Amino acid sequence: MKNKVIVTGGCGYIGSHTVVSLIEEGYEVVVFDDLSNSKEFILNKIEEITGKAPVFEKVNLAKESVCKEIFQKHNDAKAVIHFAAYKAVGESVQKPLMYYKNNLFSLINILNAQVENKIENIIFSSSATVYGEPDLLPITESNEVKQPFSPYGNTKKVAEEILLDLTKSEHNFSAISLRYFNPIGAHSSGLIGELPSGIPNNLLPYITQCAIGILEQLKVFGDDYDTKDGTAIRDYIHVVDLAKAHVAALNRLLKKEQETSYEVFNLGTGKGYTVLEIIREFEKVANMKLNYKIVERREGDVPELYAATKLAEEKLGWKALLGLNEMIRSSWQWEQQLRASVKEGY
Ligand code: WQD
Repeated sequence: MKNKVIVTGGCGYIGSHTVVSLIEEGYEVVVFDDLSNSKEFILNKIEEITGKAPVFEKVNLAKESVCKEIFQKHNDAKAVIHFAAYKAVGESVQKPLMYYKNNLFSLINILNAQVENKIENIIFSSSATVYGEPDLLPITESNEVKQPFSPYGNTKKVAEEILLDLTKSEHNFSAISLRYFNPIGAHSSGLIGELPSGIPNNLLPYITQCAIGILEQLKVFGDDYDTKDGTAIRDYIHVVDLAKAHVAALNRLLKKEQETSYEVFNLGTGKGYTVLEIIREFEKVANMKLNYKIVERREGDVPELYAATKLAEEKLGWKALLGLNEMIRSSWQWEQQLRASVKEGY
Protein backbone atom coordinates (compact mmCIF):
# COMPACT_ATOMS: atom_id res chain seq x y z
CA MET A 1 0.00 0.00 0.00
CA LYS A 2 1.11 3.54 -0.72
CA ASN A 3 2.27 5.68 2.17
CA LYS A 4 -0.11 8.53 2.92
CA VAL A 5 1.39 11.95 3.63
CA ILE A 6 -0.33 15.10 4.88
CA VAL A 7 0.97 18.29 3.27
CA THR A 8 -0.14 21.46 5.04
CA GLY A 9 -0.03 24.50 2.79
CA GLY A 10 0.01 22.19 -0.23
CA CYS A 11 -1.63 24.80 -2.47
CA GLY A 12 1.16 27.30 -1.80
CA TYR A 13 4.34 27.96 -3.75
CA ILE A 14 6.77 25.40 -2.31
CA GLY A 15 3.95 23.15 -1.10
CA SER A 16 2.41 22.67 -4.56
CA HIS A 17 5.76 21.76 -6.14
CA THR A 18 6.38 19.29 -3.33
CA VAL A 19 2.94 17.71 -3.81
CA VAL A 20 3.84 17.15 -7.48
CA SER A 21 7.14 15.48 -6.51
CA LEU A 22 5.44 13.30 -3.89
CA ILE A 23 2.75 12.11 -6.30
CA GLU A 24 5.43 11.41 -8.91
CA GLU A 25 7.27 9.30 -6.33
CA GLY A 26 4.13 7.27 -5.61
CA TYR A 27 2.99 8.84 -2.34
CA GLU A 28 -0.68 9.32 -1.56
CA VAL A 29 -1.07 13.00 -0.72
CA VAL A 30 -3.66 14.82 1.37
CA VAL A 31 -3.48 18.61 1.27
CA PHE A 32 -4.59 20.71 4.25
CA ASP A 33 -4.80 24.40 3.31
CA ASP A 34 -6.98 27.34 4.38
CA LEU A 35 -6.36 29.09 1.02
CA SER A 36 -5.48 32.32 2.91
CA ASN A 37 -2.52 32.90 0.59
CA SER A 38 -3.13 30.41 -2.20
CA LYS A 39 -5.75 29.38 -4.75
CA GLU A 40 -7.75 26.18 -5.07
CA PHE A 41 -7.23 26.01 -8.86
CA ILE A 42 -3.62 24.95 -8.14
CA LEU A 43 -5.05 21.50 -7.29
CA ASN A 44 -6.35 21.19 -10.87
CA LYS A 45 -2.92 22.15 -12.17
CA ILE A 46 -1.30 19.51 -9.97
CA GLU A 47 -3.70 17.00 -11.49
CA GLU A 48 -2.83 18.23 -15.00
CA ILE A 49 0.86 17.69 -14.30
CA THR A 50 0.69 14.36 -12.47
CA GLY A 51 -2.58 12.84 -13.66
CA LYS A 52 -3.71 12.61 -10.06
CA ALA A 53 -5.49 15.10 -7.80
CA PRO A 54 -4.50 15.12 -4.14
CA VAL A 55 -7.30 14.82 -1.58
CA PHE A 56 -8.06 18.34 -0.36
CA GLU A 57 -9.27 19.59 3.03
CA LYS A 58 -9.89 23.33 3.48
CA VAL A 59 -8.96 23.85 7.11
CA ASN A 60 -7.48 26.47 9.40
CA LEU A 61 -5.00 24.52 11.49
CA ALA A 62 -4.56 27.35 14.00
CA LYS A 63 -8.02 26.38 15.32
CA GLU A 64 -7.46 23.50 17.74
CA SER A 65 -10.80 21.70 17.35
CA VAL A 66 -10.64 21.90 13.54
CA CYS A 67 -7.09 20.56 13.53
CA LYS A 68 -7.95 17.72 15.90
CA GLU A 69 -10.91 16.64 13.82
CA ILE A 70 -9.14 16.63 10.48
CA PHE A 71 -6.20 14.64 11.83
CA GLN A 72 -8.58 12.04 13.24
CA LYS A 73 -10.10 11.70 9.79
CA HIS A 74 -6.64 11.09 8.26
CA ASN A 75 -5.01 9.21 11.11
CA ASP A 76 -3.66 6.56 8.73
CA ALA A 77 -1.08 9.08 7.43
CA LYS A 78 2.57 8.22 8.03
CA ALA A 79 4.02 11.74 8.05
CA VAL A 80 3.31 15.46 7.85
CA ILE A 81 5.13 18.00 5.71
CA HIS A 82 4.27 21.34 7.27
CA PHE A 83 4.43 24.39 4.99
CA ALA A 84 1.30 26.28 6.08
CA ALA A 85 2.46 29.58 7.61
CA TYR A 86 2.44 33.31 7.10
CA LYS A 87 5.68 34.44 5.46
CA ALA A 88 5.75 38.17 4.76
CA VAL A 89 8.71 39.58 6.66
CA GLY A 90 7.52 43.24 6.65
CA GLU A 91 3.95 42.37 7.63
CA SER A 92 5.26 40.34 10.55
CA VAL A 93 6.99 43.45 11.91
CA GLN A 94 3.66 45.33 11.74
CA LYS A 95 1.56 42.46 13.10
CA PRO A 96 3.77 40.25 15.28
CA LEU A 97 0.92 38.69 17.25
CA MET A 98 -0.85 37.63 14.07
CA TYR A 99 2.37 35.85 13.02
CA TYR A 100 3.09 34.20 16.36
CA LYS A 101 -0.55 33.13 16.67
CA ASN A 102 -0.92 31.66 13.20
CA ASN A 103 2.50 30.09 12.81
CA LEU A 104 2.93 28.74 16.32
CA PHE A 105 -0.67 27.82 17.22
CA SER A 106 -0.93 25.78 14.04
CA LEU A 107 2.39 24.03 14.68
CA ILE A 108 1.41 23.17 18.25
CA ASN A 109 -2.04 21.96 17.18
CA ILE A 110 -0.51 19.81 14.45
CA LEU A 111 2.07 18.29 16.79
CA ASN A 112 -0.58 17.52 19.41
CA ALA A 113 -2.76 15.89 16.79
CA GLN A 114 0.22 13.92 15.47
CA VAL A 115 1.08 12.60 18.93
CA GLU A 116 -2.57 11.70 19.60
CA ASN A 117 -2.86 9.82 16.31
CA LYS A 118 0.65 8.34 16.35
CA ILE A 119 1.72 10.08 13.15
CA GLU A 120 5.29 10.30 14.31
CA ASN A 121 7.17 12.03 11.48
CA ILE A 122 7.27 15.69 10.51
CA ILE A 123 9.22 17.77 8.02
CA PHE A 124 9.23 21.45 8.83
CA SER A 125 9.70 24.41 6.47
CA SER A 126 12.39 26.48 8.08
CA SER A 127 14.54 29.25 6.72
CA ALA A 128 18.12 30.47 6.48
CA THR A 129 16.81 33.51 8.32
CA VAL A 130 17.52 31.57 11.56
CA TYR A 131 21.24 32.21 10.96
CA GLY A 132 20.75 36.00 11.19
CA GLU A 133 23.94 37.70 9.98
CA PRO A 134 26.34 34.74 9.81
CA ASP A 135 29.94 34.98 11.08
CA LEU A 136 31.11 32.22 8.75
CA LEU A 137 30.47 31.47 5.06
CA PRO A 138 29.37 29.17 3.55
CA ILE A 139 26.76 28.59 6.25
CA THR A 140 26.87 25.09 7.69
CA GLU A 141 24.14 23.60 9.85
CA SER A 142 26.41 24.02 12.86
CA ASN A 143 26.62 27.79 12.36
CA GLU A 144 25.17 29.57 15.35
CA VAL A 145 21.40 30.16 15.27
CA LYS A 146 20.87 33.83 16.01
CA GLN A 147 18.01 36.11 16.83
CA PRO A 148 16.26 36.59 13.45
CA PHE A 149 15.53 40.13 12.26
CA SER A 150 11.75 39.76 12.12
CA PRO A 151 8.89 38.12 14.03
CA TYR A 152 8.38 35.95 10.94
CA GLY A 153 11.95 34.71 11.23
CA ASN A 154 11.55 34.21 14.95
CA THR A 155 8.50 31.97 14.40
CA LYS A 156 10.86 29.68 12.45
CA LYS A 157 13.47 29.71 15.22
CA VAL A 158 10.93 29.05 17.97
CA ALA A 159 9.24 26.34 15.89
CA GLU A 160 12.57 24.54 15.52
CA GLU A 161 13.06 24.71 19.30
CA ILE A 162 9.58 23.25 19.86
CA LEU A 163 10.38 20.39 17.49
CA LEU A 164 13.67 19.65 19.23
CA ASP A 165 11.99 19.56 22.64
CA LEU A 166 9.20 17.32 21.41
CA THR A 167 11.57 14.79 19.86
CA LYS A 168 13.31 14.59 23.25
CA SER A 169 10.11 13.91 25.18
CA GLU A 170 8.30 11.68 22.64
CA HIS A 171 10.75 8.90 21.96
CA ASN A 172 9.16 7.66 18.77
CA PHE A 173 8.78 11.11 17.28
CA SER A 174 11.13 12.23 14.47
CA ALA A 175 11.50 15.63 12.86
CA ILE A 176 13.55 17.23 10.11
CA SER A 177 13.78 20.99 9.67
CA LEU A 178 14.74 22.14 6.19
CA ARG A 179 16.31 25.60 6.13
CA TYR A 180 15.61 27.14 2.75
CA PHE A 181 17.85 29.74 1.22
CA ASN A 182 16.13 31.75 -1.58
CA PRO A 183 13.61 29.64 -3.51
CA ILE A 184 12.76 30.90 -7.00
CA GLY A 185 11.63 29.40 -10.30
CA ALA A 186 8.56 27.42 -11.24
CA HIS A 187 7.55 24.02 -12.61
CA SER A 188 8.74 23.39 -16.18
CA SER A 189 5.10 22.96 -17.33
CA GLY A 190 4.42 26.63 -16.49
CA LEU A 191 1.27 25.43 -14.67
CA ILE A 192 2.29 26.13 -11.07
CA GLY A 193 4.56 28.78 -9.56
CA GLU A 194 4.61 31.57 -7.01
CA LEU A 195 1.39 33.60 -6.63
CA PRO A 196 2.42 36.61 -4.58
CA SER A 197 -0.49 38.51 -3.03
CA GLY A 198 -0.18 42.28 -3.44
CA ILE A 199 3.17 43.85 -4.19
CA PRO A 200 5.86 41.19 -3.91
CA ASN A 201 8.63 41.56 -1.32
CA ASN A 202 10.98 39.08 -2.93
CA LEU A 203 13.34 39.87 -5.75
CA LEU A 204 12.27 37.45 -8.51
CA PRO A 205 8.51 38.09 -8.50
CA TYR A 206 9.28 41.81 -8.31
CA ILE A 207 11.50 41.53 -11.40
CA THR A 208 8.99 39.48 -13.42
CA GLN A 209 6.10 41.78 -12.48
CA CYS A 210 8.17 44.80 -13.60
CA ALA A 211 9.03 43.10 -16.84
CA ILE A 212 5.42 42.25 -17.61
CA GLY A 213 4.31 45.82 -16.84
CA ILE A 214 2.43 45.36 -13.54
CA LEU A 215 5.09 47.25 -11.59
CA GLU A 216 6.97 50.27 -12.80
CA GLN A 217 10.50 50.00 -11.52
CA LEU A 218 12.64 47.63 -9.49
CA LYS A 219 14.48 49.19 -6.57
CA VAL A 220 17.84 47.58 -5.92
CA PHE A 221 18.39 47.83 -2.18
CA GLY A 222 21.95 49.07 -1.76
CA ASP A 223 25.10 48.92 -3.91
CA ASP A 224 27.58 49.67 -1.14
CA TYR A 225 27.97 46.18 0.31
CA ASP A 226 31.41 44.64 0.41
CA THR A 227 30.73 42.34 -2.57
CA LYS A 228 32.07 42.22 -6.13
CA ASP A 229 29.53 44.75 -7.51
CA GLY A 230 28.31 46.21 -4.21
CA THR A 231 24.89 44.48 -4.24
CA ALA A 232 23.89 41.76 -1.80
CA ILE A 233 24.57 38.08 -2.41
CA ARG A 234 22.01 35.27 -1.97
CA ASP A 235 21.88 31.56 -2.67
CA TYR A 236 18.94 31.14 -5.07
CA ILE A 237 17.55 27.63 -5.39
CA HIS A 238 15.08 26.21 -7.91
CA VAL A 239 11.76 25.33 -6.27
CA VAL A 240 11.68 21.99 -8.12
CA ASP A 241 15.03 21.04 -6.56
CA LEU A 242 13.67 22.16 -3.21
CA ALA A 243 10.57 20.00 -3.67
CA LYS A 244 12.73 16.95 -4.38
CA ALA A 245 14.67 17.55 -1.17
CA HIS A 246 11.41 17.13 0.76
CA VAL A 247 10.87 13.72 -0.83
CA ALA A 248 14.45 12.75 0.10
CA ALA A 249 13.88 13.91 3.70
CA LEU A 250 10.59 12.01 3.86
CA ASN A 251 12.24 8.81 2.61
CA ARG A 252 14.90 9.23 5.29
CA LEU A 253 12.25 9.56 8.01
CA LEU A 254 10.14 6.65 6.83
CA LYS A 255 13.13 4.35 6.39
CA LYS A 256 14.27 5.36 9.87
CA GLU A 257 17.69 6.36 8.58
CA GLN A 258 18.08 9.29 10.94
CA GLU A 259 21.07 9.53 13.24
CA THR A 260 19.19 11.64 15.79
CA SER A 261 15.45 12.15 16.12
CA TYR A 262 15.77 15.86 15.25
CA GLU A 263 17.84 16.81 12.23
CA VAL A 264 18.41 20.02 10.32
CA PHE A 265 19.50 20.50 6.70
CA ASN A 266 20.32 23.55 4.63
CA LEU A 267 18.71 23.63 1.22
CA GLY A 268 20.68 25.79 -1.18
CA THR A 269 22.97 25.40 -4.16
CA GLY A 270 26.08 26.60 -2.38
CA LYS A 271 26.53 29.34 -4.96
CA GLY A 272 25.83 33.03 -4.32
CA TYR A 273 24.71 35.63 -6.87
CA THR A 274 24.47 39.40 -6.48
CA VAL A 275 21.27 41.31 -7.23
CA LEU A 276 22.89 42.80 -10.35
CA GLU A 277 23.87 39.32 -11.57
CA ILE A 278 20.25 38.25 -11.22
CA ILE A 279 19.10 41.30 -13.17
CA ARG A 280 21.66 40.63 -15.94
CA GLU A 281 20.61 36.98 -16.21
CA PHE A 282 16.95 37.99 -16.36
CA GLU A 283 17.68 40.53 -19.11
CA LYS A 284 19.44 37.81 -21.09
CA VAL A 285 16.66 35.25 -20.62
CA ALA A 286 13.81 37.67 -21.38
CA ASN A 287 15.77 39.58 -23.99
CA MET A 288 14.80 42.97 -22.61
CA LYS A 289 16.13 45.80 -20.47
CA LEU A 290 14.78 45.98 -16.96
CA ASN A 291 13.82 49.35 -15.48
CA TYR A 292 15.64 49.55 -12.15
CA LYS A 293 17.38 52.03 -9.88
CA ILE A 294 19.73 51.75 -6.95
CA VAL A 295 18.27 52.94 -3.65
CA GLU A 296 19.21 52.75 0.03
CA ARG A 297 19.83 49.39 1.72
CA ARG A 298 16.70 47.65 3.06
CA GLU A 299 16.63 47.37 6.83
CA GLY A 300 17.38 43.86 8.08
CA ASP A 301 19.16 42.71 4.90
CA VAL A 302 22.49 40.99 5.35
CA PRO A 303 25.30 41.40 2.81
CA GLU A 304 25.91 37.78 1.95
CA LEU A 305 24.23 34.40 2.49
CA TYR A 306 25.04 31.10 0.88
CA ALA A 307 24.75 27.53 2.04
CA ALA A 308 27.16 24.74 2.70
CA THR A 309 25.46 21.82 0.94
CA LYS A 310 27.58 18.89 2.07
CA LEU A 311 25.34 17.61 4.84
CA ALA A 312 22.24 17.39 2.62
CA GLU A 313 24.33 15.68 -0.06
CA GLU A 314 25.74 13.12 2.36
CA LYS A 315 22.68 12.37 4.46
CA LEU A 316 19.75 13.02 2.15
CA GLY A 317 21.55 11.99 -1.02
CA TRP A 318 20.16 15.18 -2.50
CA LYS A 319 21.83 17.95 -4.44
CA ALA A 320 20.38 20.93 -6.33
CA LEU A 321 20.70 20.24 -10.05
CA LEU A 322 19.10 23.22 -11.78
CA GLY A 323 21.15 26.35 -12.43
CA LEU A 324 20.38 30.05 -12.40
CA ASN A 325 19.40 30.19 -16.07
CA GLU A 326 16.75 27.51 -15.57
CA MET A 327 15.49 29.20 -12.40
CA ILE A 328 15.00 32.54 -14.09
CA ARG A 329 13.70 31.10 -17.35
CA SER A 330 10.98 29.16 -15.51
CA SER A 331 10.04 32.16 -13.31
CA TRP A 332 9.58 34.25 -16.44
CA GLN A 333 7.61 31.54 -18.25
CA TRP A 334 5.31 31.22 -15.23
CA GLU A 335 4.73 34.99 -15.01
CA GLN A 336 3.81 35.14 -18.69
CA GLN A 337 1.46 32.13 -18.54
CA LEU A 338 -0.10 33.38 -15.32
CA ARG A 339 -0.94 36.79 -16.78
CA ALA A 340 -2.36 35.22 -19.92
CA SER A 341 -4.58 32.95 -17.81
CA VAL A 342 -5.64 35.82 -15.50
CA LYS A 343 -6.99 37.56 -18.59
CA GLU A 344 -9.02 34.44 -19.35
CA GLY A 345 -10.26 34.35 -15.71
CA TYR A 346 -7.98 31.36 -14.87
C1 WQD B 1 16.92 39.01 -2.22
C2 WQD B 1 17.94 40.12 -2.51
C3 WQD B 1 17.39 42.20 -1.41
C4 WQD B 1 13.65 42.93 -3.53
C5 WQD B 1 13.55 36.73 2.30
C6 WQD B 1 13.27 36.40 3.74
C7 WQD B 1 13.65 35.00 4.04
C8 WQD B 1 12.97 34.04 3.09
C9 WQD B 1 13.15 34.44 1.67
C10 WQD B 1 10.58 33.55 3.01
C11 WQD B 1 18.27 40.95 -1.28
C12 WQD B 1 17.29 42.34 -2.92
C13 WQD B 1 14.84 42.37 -3.10
C14 WQD B 1 13.68 44.16 -4.23
C15 WQD B 1 16.09 44.15 -4.06
N1 WQD B 1 11.62 33.98 3.50
N2 WQD B 1 16.04 42.97 -3.37
N3 WQD B 1 14.91 44.72 -4.49
O1 WQD B 1 15.58 39.04 1.82
O2 WQD B 1 17.12 37.20 1.02
O3 WQD B 1 14.95 36.62 2.05
O4 WQD B 1 12.85 35.82 1.47
O5 WQD B 1 9.55 33.25 3.14
O6 WQD B 1 13.30 34.71 5.34
O7 WQD B 1 13.98 37.29 4.58
O8 WQD B 1 14.97 37.60 -0.19
O9 WQD B 1 14.00 38.04 -2.42
O10 WQD B 1 13.53 39.66 -0.55
O11 WQD B 1 15.82 39.56 -1.52
O12 WQD B 1 17.15 44.71 -4.31
O13 WQD B 1 12.64 44.72 -4.61
O14 WQD B 1 17.32 41.03 -3.44
O15 WQD B 1 17.93 43.34 -0.84
O16 WQD B 1 19.62 41.31 -1.39
P1 WQD B 1 15.74 37.72 1.22
P2 WQD B 1 14.48 38.72 -1.20
